[in-house]
Amino acid sequence: MIAIRLHPDKQSAAQAIAREIADLIAIRSESGKPTVLGLATGSTPLPLYAELIRLRREAGISFRSVITFNLDEYEGLGPTHPQSYRRFMEENLFRHLDIPAANIHIPDGLTKNAAQNCADYEEAIRDAGGIDLQILGIGRTGHIGFNEPPSSADSRTRWVRLDEVTRRDNSAFFGDMSLVPHGALTMGVATILQARRIELIAFGEAKAEIVRRAIKEAPSAGCPATWLQRHPRCTFHLDAGAAQAL
Ligand code: GLP
Repeated sequence: MIAIRLHPDKQSAAQAIAREIADLIAIRSESGKPTVLGLATGSTPLPLYAELIRLRREAGISFRSVITFNLDEYEGLGPTHPQSYRRFMEENLFRHLDIPAANIHIPDGLTKNAAQNCADYEEAIRDAGGIDLQILGIGRTGHIGFNEPPSSADSRTRWVRLDEVTRRDNSAFFGDMSLVPHGALTMGVATILQARRIELIAFGEAKAEIVRRAIKEAPSAGCPATWLQRHPRCTFHLDAGAAQAL
């Protein structure tokens, strides 16, 4: 069941989700529990990350009890590569918050043993008690994380080949299509669906058609975001552009 929340602009969406995260941290830390967040990259979550940074700076909210798991990482890109998701997260979120470094998890794009690395990632999520709240964007292929079509509902953290549409969409960041990696490590659909709460964010007309498909089409591997319909607590946060085909 997907709930839809329409926001007047990106900033309002960011504020609503940041408030939800802050409330969750407050409730869980009252009983001494960590808060496990699943985090996403791409341009869509940037206003949310800016808002979390503002809450840290201006409202003094602490993120010391937070444990994070990012959805995905490009194959072959290490922490110093300007386009790696590790670097993206450091610059746009982690370096501005007080999350202990040991609590931060991102698949290792430089691993020589992807299968082991992915199995270890699943285990680390389990050991942390599972993800309390997962942030998601959506790609125009219907991917969540880097679960390109076809991705089954029982898929787990693994190596995937990137769709050419995705490589083209992300090539702007790399400057040239030939520099975009062909593969990635990503949490699986089943990994994502195990999060206790999911907040998907989509802004702008370019996402309208895939948002419509994700909500209206019968769940199938051909549009991985449709699997979110099977989640008991998933909200799509949309602006008017992204909601226009509904
Ligand atoms: C990448 C990420 C996804 C993200 C998607 C959309 O492919 N792996 O997690 O949702 O881009 O990106 P954007 O938010 O820039 O539209």
